Amino acid sequence: MTAEAIDGKAFAAKLRERVGEQATRFESETGRKAGLAVVLVGEDPASQVYVRSKNKATLAANMESFEHRLPADTSEADLLALVDGLNTDPAVDGILVQLPLPDHLDEQAVIAAISPDKDVDGFHVTNAGRLAVGQSGFVPCTPLGCMMLLTERLGDLSGLEAVVIGRSNIVGKPMAQLLLDANATVTIAHSRTKDLPAVVKRADIVVAAVGRAEMVKGEWLKDGATVIDVGINRLPPEPGAEKGRLVGDVDYADAQRVAAAITPVPGGVGPMTIAVLLRNTLFAAYRNEG
Ligand code: GUN
Repeated sequence: MTAEAIDGKAFAAKLRERVGEQATRFESETGRKAGLAVVLVGEDPASQVYVRSKNKATLAANMESFEHRLPADTSEADLLALVDGLNTDPAVDGILVQLPLPDHLDEQAVIAAISPDKDVDGFHVTNAGRLAVGQSGFVPCTPLGCMMLLTERLGDLSGLEAVVIGRSNIVGKPMAQLLLDANATVTIAHSRTKDLPAVVKRADIVVAAVGRAEMVKGEWLKDGATVIDVGINRLPPEPGAEKGRLVGDVDYADAQRVAAAITPVPGGVGPMTIAVLLRNTLFAAYRNEG
């Protein structure tokens, strides 16, 4: 078997286009554009790349983008004051504080300061709680994007065995919750799981979100599994190359021999995150118009 590549890039492009059309309708209905504020503290190169592409995608979807770049030594009080101002700014529908923050800043305190109604990342405890008890709220972008790819490919997930590898608040836990809401039978595996290959073997759906390059091997997988690879890891450069290759948490070539479908890295889950962020922002804008 050669697994089909799940084209997240194409799916995300369609979603962005749809959100852009709805954003244009929002503007003609309300006389203002939906607005997303992105806050970046410091100079982390990967974060700078993400923030730049969020800004571009927001403008392309006919929304307003408010970028706030603060120096790495910004105090927590100053950052909280900025977030507070954004919470009450009627032009701002969604607020995203790019993570990770510099070490001297308390991420949980900063996330807690964001109004839950503008928390388009879905990281605030209020939104995590809403997801846990089945109330509507903001759902973290990456797991929601993974769910869209899964349901498009598999339709009804009822009764399927799903194994999520990784238990982060940003991906693993909300992913498990969404799969459970879709009536899958869900296992969350992590660094202390005993015999991970045996756990993965029973999965119809594998979501890998551990941040370890090419950890999941083809022989771990059940024949015909659907594999969603959330990892983005850079390998050490080959001799003569400036940069190493980007790979996921799954050994792609190896997994392709066994799985029915798999998301490539890059071009799988990655592009979905920004598309869902725009969708969440538009959702926030409609709610704020209330
Ligand atoms: N850093 C890496 N991914 C994300 C994300 O989805 N949201 C935020 N705020 N920071 C991130």
